[in-house]
Amino acid sequence: MTAARHDVDDLIRGRRTNMFVDRDRAVPDETIAELCELATWAPNHKRTWPWRFASVTGAGRSRLGQVVSGAMAAHGDEPHKVTKALTKYERTPNILIIGSVIGDSDERTAENRDAVAAAAQNLMLAATARGIATYWGSCPKGSHEAVATFAGFAPDTHIVGIFYVGYPIESMEVPERPDPVINVIDN
Ligand SMILES: Cc1cc2nc3c(=O)[nH]c(=O)nc-3n(C[C@H](O)[C@H](O)[C@H](O)COP(=O)(O)O)c2cc1C
Repeated sequence: MTAARHDVDDLIRGRRTNMFVDRDRAVPDETIAELCELATWAPNHKRTWPWRFASVTGAGRSRLGQVVSGAMAAHGDEPHKVTKALTKYERTPNILIIGSVIGDSDERTAENRDAVAAAAQNLMLAATARGIATYWGSCPKGSHEAVATFAGFAPDTHIVGIFYVGYPIESMEVPERPDPVINVIDN
């Protein structure tokens, strides 16, 4: 299949990390489901289907904040970060938690995470194509098990990201990209 090349190039370059979104306009459940389905077309060694998704909206976002804040406090995180975590997931109407299951070896676990990162990029590009902003946030240290349990995943699932999702109200500056270094080995 050949997609219009320039469209694809523009889409890839046009995706921007952005959480300045309309807090009162949630992304419909069907659209979230579409994005997650598109994520699953990522390459996946051994077809382990390692991705796990949880869609968090409404009061679920403040419950997520409480879970993360509690785990951060138990982990000894700085008090101002612990307090900030209580409300930070309410900044966008939709939150997507994406996890990667452990494999049957360290190598497979690492490859699962690689596949889930590829899936996350699929999801963000599909969101961009629909006029939806995304922001990949890390799961705070010490919070993975609590977030996995909150999300309904197996507790040892690695949380690849907590994604802020919504309809943008501001566009973001384009960060400079250094040119790729390409070592050419041809003999
Ligand atoms: C694994 C991963 C974790 C990230 N975690 C965070 C984060 O915790 N906080 C944050 O502000 N951005 C986070 N980002 C987003 C990057 O900061 C962002 O992609 C970068 O600033 C480039 O901006 P762009 O995506 O608009 O090109 C993360 C990105 C990746 C791939």
